[in-house]
Amino acid sequence: MADNNKSGYSNLVKTLSWENGVLTLLDQTKLPVEVINEPQGSIEQVWDSIKKLKVRGAPAIGIAGAYGLLYGVKDIQDMETSRFMDVLKEKAAYLDSSRPTAVNLSWALKRMVAKAETITDLSAAEIYEVLEKEAIAIHEEDKALCRGMGENGKVLIKDGMGVLTHCNAGSLATSELGTATAPMYLAHEDGVKFKVYSDETRPLLQGARLTSWELQQSGLDVTLICDNMAAFMMSKGFIDLVIVGTDRVAANGDTANKIGTMGVAILAKHFGIPFYVACPSSTFDLSTEKGDEIVIEERDAEEVTFFGERRTGPEGIQVRNPAFDVTPNELIAGFITENGIVRPPFKENLAKSFK
Ligand code: MRU
Repeated sequence: MADNNKSGYSNLVKTLSWENGVLTLLDQTKLPVEVINEPQGSIEQVWDSIKKLKVRGAPAIGIAGAYGLLYGVKDIQDMETSRFMDVLKEKAAYLDSSRPTAVNLSWALKRMVAKAETITDLSAAEIYEVLEKEAIAIHEEDKALCRGMGENGKVLIKDGMGVLTHCNAGSLATSELGTATAPMYLAHEDGVKFKVYSDETRPLLQGARLTSWELQQSGLDVTLICDNMAAFMMSKGFIDLVIVGTDRVAANGDTANKIGTMGVAILAKHFGIPFYVACPSSTFDLSTEKGDEIVIEERDAEEVTFFGERRTGPEGIQVRNPAFDVTPNELIAGFITENGIVRPPFKENLAKSFK
């Protein structure tokens, strides 16, 4: 499927594509039962696809947002430039409202608007053309970032290890090798023999439906466990390393990721297992000082009271459904980035890395 992937994994899924002005998304809500690619027809449809997690994962929603913004302005290319710029900014704010926690979405939209701001001497049609190239550049760069994280992180994975991951920070969450999975794909390609344990990740089962599916497709040795089995597996010595992705890292290294990640990090600390976070530089938000300031998306109660189509909680029950939590920096051994592994003290070392 992924005709242009450079990893050697010919069966890596193509999460999204842009061809002849059409954004096509693999509808991740249907996986692993059905593989359905859904062409997008409007900015509203892209907003909805991000909101409903048809496309999800921090880098992937950034790329989808950049392409989605093009839909918002493609029919106003004959507009006077300053009015075009106003609409562009309105549409960027609209798309940014679809999901609040992953910084990559606002990062990509800001980058698109900033690009346009440097060329306001051009006509709207010319700006559109430049913006299309910018969105394609964001998409292409992500492939290289994933590979960089893979190269820098694969040394952590040794023969005989068990590696635990949570949620999906894989190819489905990015454009190619994933973030947390990139070291796994490349270690596997190098012939390292290791096992991956994938937390199922309630309530929406990204670990079960997506991570275990994509790793299995690529021939990795993957075992699915329920979230509440992680402690047992660690206590029995099955897990030697944890690698997860992230949606936003604050300047002090506090890390937002899928709900349940903090619990895994606490367990890893208890059992003396190194806990790493893999992410591209676009996921660091140095303007956010610490984790408390990160906005945590709260999603619909039905995601908790239903398991698929089946009701599993009583009608009218009070529900909380935070989609992310924030792992305190002291539980993190390092950040696997495209530029290398950043280790504590994070405040100083992240500032140095991103100066
Ligand atoms: O709600 P989701 O499925 O978008 O959550 C995704 C995650 O939490 C991922 O771990 C994170 O975005 C990193 S993706 C490389």
